[in-house]
Amino acid sequence: MALLEVENLRAGYGSVPVLHGVSLSVDEGSNAVLLGLNGAGKSTTLMALAGLLPTTGGEIRYDGKPLTGTTGARVRAGIVLVPEGRHVFPALTVRQNLRLGAWTIRRDTRTVRGHLNEIYSIFPRLEERADQLAGTLSGGEQQMLAIGRGLMSSPRLLLIDEASLGLSPKLTEQVFAAVQLINERGVTVLMVEQNAGVLAQADTAFVMQQGRITMAGSGSETLEDDAVRAAYFGT
Ligand SMILES: Nc1ncnc2c1ncn2[C@@H]1O[C@H](COP(=O)(O)OP(=O)(O)O)[C@@H](O)[C@H]1O
Ligand SMILES: [Mg+2]
Repeated sequence: MALLEVENLRAGYGSVPVLHGVSLSVDEGSNAVLLGLNGAGKSTTLMALAGLLPTTGGEIRYDGKPLTGTTGARVRAGIVLVPEGRHVFPALTVRQNLRLGAWTIRRDTRTVRGHLNEIYSIFPRLEERADQLAGTLSGGEQQMLAIGRGLMSSPRLLLIDEASLGLSPKLTEQVFAAVQLINERGVTVLMVEQNAGVLAQADTAFVMQQGRITMAGSGSETLEDDAVRAAYFGT
């Protein structure tokens, strides 16, 4: 059963079209990856899904219904974006950053505490550093914090934009493993990546080139594809 269905989606900036009819589908409970090189249109796709960028054509269906609301309404419906570049608040502590992710439910202290405990169980490092300023965290820790902040909104569909950007292979592996754990706990995930290593854990993969989906299949099929290997691993 598809939680997210995107059909012939078009979007761009001003009069410049970027997405030329993107179609993809993400099953409830699955871990999907949108793979593409720099400039392919991945972030543009996620921004359109999050309601941060107007669309100029096509349709987005979420939970079987057309999706049209504001970004805030989409967050309340469970669509949460972890943006590219992390954007944590450097002068606030880890705990304060996480609490800001639950701003709208801040008076519901029991729920906020439950979310915090859940996040600390996924990212023990964040609990260790709860009172440390976010600006002093490593890139990998900041990425964990950005994902944790997204989890504070109780996502049903978590959109993650290039979590591996600028991370060492080891930290990339840790972040990917954490996302897999989040998915196993019941959150549907759509990850945008340039790092094809993520395909190993993907149920479904879509390859994007110049604003179009050029390939769709299982993660393992896509990982074995010759064109993908040539473009992403140089083999
Ligand atoms: N704010 C913007 N204004 C104009 N063009 C943009 C803007 N953001 C991205 N683009 C262009 O849209 C295309 C797709 O960008 P983007 O979606 O960020 O790609 P990706 O995330 O796959 O690297 C690129 O050609 C990029 O230059
Ligand atoms: Mg991007």
